[in-house]
Amino acid sequence: MDQSLLSTVEHAFDFAQQQVRALTERDPNFYPLYTDQGRWRHEKPAWTHWCDGFLPGMMWIFHEETGDPQWRVSAEKYSGALEIRKDDREVHDLGFIFYHGTYKRWYEATLRAGSPDHSLKDVVIHAGRTLALRFHERAGCMRSFHGADSNFIDIMMNVGIIFYAALETGDSSLLQLAHRHCATTRRTLVRGDGSTSHEGIFDLETGEFLRQTTQQGFRGDSCWSRGLAWSLYGFGTCYGLTREPKYLETAELNAEYWLDHAPEDGVVPWDFDAPEDGPLSRAQVDTSASAIAAVGLLNLAELTASEERRKACRDCALKTIGSLAANYLGDSVDGWEGILRGGVYHIHKDLGVNESVMWGEFFFVEALQRALRILRNTV
Ligand code: GLY
Repeated sequence: MDQSLLSTVEHAFDFAQQQVRALTERDPNFYPLYTDQGRWRHEKPAWTHWCDGFLPGMMWIFHEETGDPQWRVSAEKYSGALEIRKDDREVHDLGFIFYHGTYKRWYEATLRAGSPDHSLKDVVIHAGRTLALRFHERAGCMRSFHGADSNFIDIMMNVGIIFYAALETGDSSLLQLAHRHCATTRRTLVRGDGSTSHEGIFDLETGEFLRQTTQQGFRGDSCWSRGLAWSLYGFGTCYGLTREPKYLETAELNAEYWLDHAPEDGVVPWDFDAPEDGPLSRAQVDTSASAIAAVGLLNLAELTASEERRKACRDCALKTIGSLAANYLGDSVDGWEGILRGGVYHIHKDLGVNESVMWGEFFFVEALQRALRILRNTV
């Protein structure tokens, strides 16, 4: 066991709990999105309203790891307030909110306690059905929040909730719809070298795929780091749910690109093709992308057949988690309210650049949880 990595990770996990506790005491019932100069409360816009599940999601993880009943009380309160979002037709992010963050974790907590509350699972299924309403028959995919003709690679992190709903209810047309979304995304947004495009645009009359483009990446033909991380984690999750071999192949291809292009410490530039200099310089990292990819790589290490790939994924993930915990914690800056510094939300709109971002906090905490279990040999 790597004792020094374990203490670094333990310190980060304790610090994460302190920061979340401080946030909820300072600003009860507030679901922030990103910091501005290290502060969660500010007047800058949300762009889209997709992150509310991540704060309760961290509380569920803290409860899972520590058993502290107070975390469960908070997690239930912050999750329950979001139930209304199960009918939200404005966002493509219901998987983030209900599958990764809130009700699926809540349901699993009741399962572990031996008294499954199926009404919690019903909320997840309901949200999955709502998300599926975004499907466009001719394009063969769900539309992003950005437009009827637009698909985002980010949706790969959300389509899992549709598979879950379909599998739990035996709904074969829902299952088919989710498979079609994945097939279209794989065909149009994942490139031969394993890199990804952020966004695809379709002709809705004919269903023809028109072009790759981006909202948050450097260019339409670049590889936005977080998009690649969403794809790697998302296709891996879909393989775990369905055992469709193509999804495993895709996650493996994404991982190959990641492993070939990530720097030694695992903390990636905000876009793999960003220029050396200027306002969009690759010197700006995106720690949230690294945290997401770390969990995606740990998942893949459990799914992939090749021993060599398993080791490469696990080594890169643990190295990355160690670097984030050692060099990017908020405790190195006085008064910083987030857990993880160095995230990027939307560089072109100057929203949350080099800040803490709520999904970065959540996936970092998930990565810490996974690392703790590996390093303590409790998996
Ligand atoms: N899903 C939105 C983002 O990654 O910023």
